[in-house]
Amino acid sequence: MNNGQAYLFDLDGVIVDTARFHYLAWKRLANQLGFEFTEKQNEALKGISRMDSLEIVLKAGQLTLSPEEKLKYASEKNAYYLELCSRMTPDDVLPGVLDFINKARNKGIKIGLGSASKNARTILDSIDMTRHFDTIVDGNRVKNSKPDPEVFLLGAQDLGIAPAGCVVFEDAAAGIEAAKRAGMKTVGIGDPAILGAADLVIPGFAGLKSVDLIKIQP
Ligand code: BG6
Ligand code: MG
Repeated sequence: MNNGQAYLFDLDGVIVDTARFHYLAWKRLANQLGFEFTEKQNEALKGISRMDSLEIVLKAGQLTLSPEEKLKYASEKNAYYLELCSRMTPDDVLPGVLDFINKARNKGIKIGLGSASKNARTILDSIDMTRHFDTIVDGNRVKNSKPDPEVFLLGAQDLGIAPAGCVVFEDAAAGIEAAKRAGMKTVGIGDPAILGAADLVIPGFAGLKSVDLIKIQP
């Protein structure tokens, strides 16, 4: 560990608007199983692994399924999700993200990805963002879903940066909690009513000036 700094980014809803596609895919499954699933209910799924998300969706519909059925529906949800993602291009990177990352790198700040998604590399490749990360920690590497801090602690370890030197960018309440439990600074991307536990909440990267971050720099 050293005294350097790292920025750790969540993927879905932070780098690219795939959080919307996750919602559409879960809603489609719920409708297929005969119940509604609202955007408000979907908030609890953000940052949560695929199988844990399925459990929450099934609970909302008061359904009990066998392990085999669960695997089948999770796989169907994922196939539809990937279909929605398949038309993504580098133009889909959210406004200001790339510029923000490039400026940070020029200042010597390490850049990592900390995502629960098992599709993270596929998504990053499709928007040509893989090369901008010094490390990628995704759902294939972690055992515990956010709000467990594992995903961010692994990222910090890969980069050789102490947790206190890391700032995490997250759109999910579970992700903010994970970062705080890891002993990191947090920036929420989205609604302050949902991300109020973060050190700073911003609507997106487009208007983010480096001065805004001074308050939370480790
Ligand atoms: C997170 C999303 O990034 O990844 C969750 O916020 C999603 O909504 C999770 O369930 C797992 O994603 P995937 O792509 O492995 O199904
Ligand atoms: Mg997210």
